[in-house]
Amino acid sequence: MRFYVAIARAVMFPCQYSFFIIHFRLLTMLKMHTPELAKNVYYVGVKDRDRRLFDSLIPLPQGTTYNAYLIKDERTALIDTVNPGFEVELEARINHVHQASEIDYIIMNHAEPDHAGAIPYLLEKNTKAKLVTTKRGAEAARIYFQTPEDRIKIVSDGETLDLGTKTLRFIEAPMLHWPETMFTFLEEDRILFTCDFLGLHTAYGFYDDEVPELIQYAQRYFGEIMMPYRAMGKRGLDKIKDLEIKLIAPSHGPIHQNPQRILEAYQRWTSGETLDKVILVYVSMWKSTEKMIKQLAETLEKEGIDAPVYNLVSADVGDIAKDLVDAKGIVLGTPTVLGRMHPLAVYAAHLVKVLKPPAKYGVVLTSYGWGKGALSHASEMLGPTGLEVVGAVEINGSPNKESYEQISQIGETLAKKIKE
Ligand code: FEO
Repeated sequence: MRFYVAIARAVMFPCQYSFFIIHFRLLTMLKMHTPELAKNVYYVGVKDRDRRLFDSLIPLPQGTTYNAYLIKDERTALIDTVNPGFEVELEARINHVHQASEIDYIIMNHAEPDHAGAIPYLLEKNTKAKLVTTKRGAEAARIYFQTPEDRIKIVSDGETLDLGTKTLRFIEAPMLHWPETMFTFLEEDRILFTCDFLGLHTAYGFYDDEVPELIQYAQRYFGEIMMPYRAMGKRGLDKIKDLEIKLIAPSHGPIHQNPQRILEAYQRWTSGETLDKVILVYVSMWKSTEKMIKQLAETLEKEGIDAPVYNLVSADVGDIAKDLVDAKGIVLGTPTVLGRMHPLAVYAAHLVKVLKPPAKYGVVLTSYGWGKGALSHASEMLGPTGLEVVGAVEINGSPNKESYEQISQIGETLAKKIKE
């Protein structure tokens, strides 16, 4: 009945407010699914199946989730929130288990808005809840959400929070991937809430076993977000190595019922363990660069090296990030445009610089029509990466027999180094 009243009001007063009421009423009337992970520990997060881009940069072919968890006890705690735009859905899910206005603590493991964006909404609805976060998290909450001082409870590394029968332990994990990040461990149920760390982007599957491509997606996510912070990731893993973890509950993607699987993958990736693999990324205007890249990929494959090739015109940057995680070599192919590298190649070189992949060896293949320049530009950009340059070719026009031979020789030398 209340829903129809809301519709009638919307018809009479077609303003945003009425729409908001309808949306809220509809959500509160839906039978919410709030799975219980352990006794009195509920999933209250949301799925964003339609999102296709993160940070205006990272493609999300399968959407993502913003996971939030409610722990009901003598004092109730919410672990993380959701992206702006999903506040009402989050509130309805919480209300399904416990009144949102009666939550005692909102734990902010990370201040980025996809997890913390609903905090201002919840703090307005709930006048007693404290925001629990690290010292740097408190600074971020003040800056991003104007959270008043008296609503924040700062916790330090190793500190615990007694909820009654359950205990939360906070583990500072800075730069995974922002300065304020922390993990929260629910001691009695042995659930580790890691926010972005150990997560992945897909809106499908609730538990890890329901996602066959779990490690592939996790590797892609690691490459996009965590790879530049490998050392901090190693430190983070070290801090949790003695915990007897039953479940890992990140804030994106499925919950890990097999914690060891994702932890072992992160051990490899944070250590910079590489495979016999060379990633080739290129852009081509009149096929010269493309022919050179194909020749090199073929030589590498003949030598038993995995050689994924990406045309930058159509490649998904997440796939490139995934292969950068464990490739031992990187090949960049580009024509010369106005005396410099093609802009798409500049973008790729920039990604290699900032993502800091563990690759050791590099090759640059360039071509030009009437003026050189791409090769020196590539050296200028990739110089600071510390890659050992195994070969660099700059050809005029289309590759000829000699160019192909030169490229094959570079491929053989690179393969030898990769296998050493
Ligand atoms: Fe998923 Fe750093 O936010």
